Amino acid sequence: MKILGIETSCDETSAAIVEETGDAAKPWVIRSNVIASQVPIHREWGGVVPELASRQHIRDICGVVEHALEEARARWDDLGAVAVTQGPGLVGSLLVGVSFAKAAAVAAGLPLVAVHHLAGHVESLVLQNGELPLPAVVLVVSGGHTSLYLIQRPGRYELLSRTRDDAAGEAYDKVAKLLGLGYPGGPVIDRLAQGGNDRAIQLPTTRLTHADRNAPELKGDLDFSFSGLKTAVLRHVRARAASGVAFSDQEVADICATFQRIVVTALIDRLFDAARRYQAKSIGIAGGVSANSRLRAELLEKGARREIPTFLPSLQLATDNAAMIAAAGLRKFRAGVTAPLDLNADAALPLG
Ligand code: KG4
Ligand code: ZN
Repeated sequence: MKILGIETSCDETSAAIVEETGDAAKPWVIRSNVIASQVPIHREWGGVVPELASRQHIRDICGVVEHALEEARARWDDLGAVAVTQGPGLVGSLLVGVSFAKAAAVAAGLPLVAVHHLAGHVESLVLQNGELPLPAVVLVVSGGHTSLYLIQRPGRYELLSRTRDDAAGEAYDKVAKLLGLGYPGGPVIDRLAQGGNDRAIQLPTTRLTHADRNAPELKGDLDFSFSGLKTAVLRHVRARAASGVAFSDQEVADICATFQRIVVTALIDRLFDAARRYQAKSIGIAGGVSANSRLRAELLEKGARREIPTFLPSLQLATDNAAMIAAAGLRKFRAGVTAPLDLNADAALPLG
């Protein structure tokens, strides 16, 4: 069976066709994965402008879906279902995908499947590598989320911890902005950090040990926090601006390298702590920040040292795309779950 996936939760309009293989170990294959990025539109404003994003999704969605069908050499008749990101994300953006998917499902007489965006990121690992040995601990780390999940059964995602404040990708984007490096910040900081000294300046690490009053169901000691680090970079930049001497390129690279070391260390440490605590048989990192070169290298290196299999998406499957939504949709469809046609977008949809 082939499924059409649609993703419009933030600033990428994406449509994909994913097909089942019949192989239980590697259940899905990508037939097409078309992504229209809005980055050039939002770059001018230094971040995603929600109203501009939803308007651009409306302009792009029909063409992107047609392109995905063409590239997969598929017709509407060849499809078995339509999967769409229901949330979380920007509500205006989500509504474009959800409305399109509902209309397409009615017009083509296909079942509709509602997908959680982070379930999509987790399933990008399976799409890329095949089924993960379970139990698995997976970190989803993006511009909007930094969340650790325990997966004991396929399609069941138990939240272990999350960030108390900024997401890691958000911290990258904010730090890049205050260093004048543009949007999105992750790729440029990643590149500049490679020429910097990661011990050049003093920046704080945050290790939480106490439970969060807002989430008493979580232990709290695997939680993340990045706003203190971002504020420390801000203070460093302000102090320098007050002295009237601009940073040299080397100094900017040093700040990037130090910031990146601290973020990556926090992510890797918490991930491996969780893996030990839950006796995981595999570990994965997904989401936009999983494209980070240092994070990828440290995951592979530490996984090899601990003799635990590690999983990453390809760079294209790391950032937002519809193939991962189609894959998560197939998993849900095969579990017998479809959505009613009065499905609504949910900007704060919980997972699990
Ligand atoms: O998953 P994604 O495409 O969208 C969300 O669901 O948020 O993630 C986008 C985030 C942005 O914050 C971006 O700066 C970050 O991923 N990112 C990176 C890298 N590439 C993208 N962060 C660190 N290093 C990278 N190489
Ligand atoms: Zn995402």
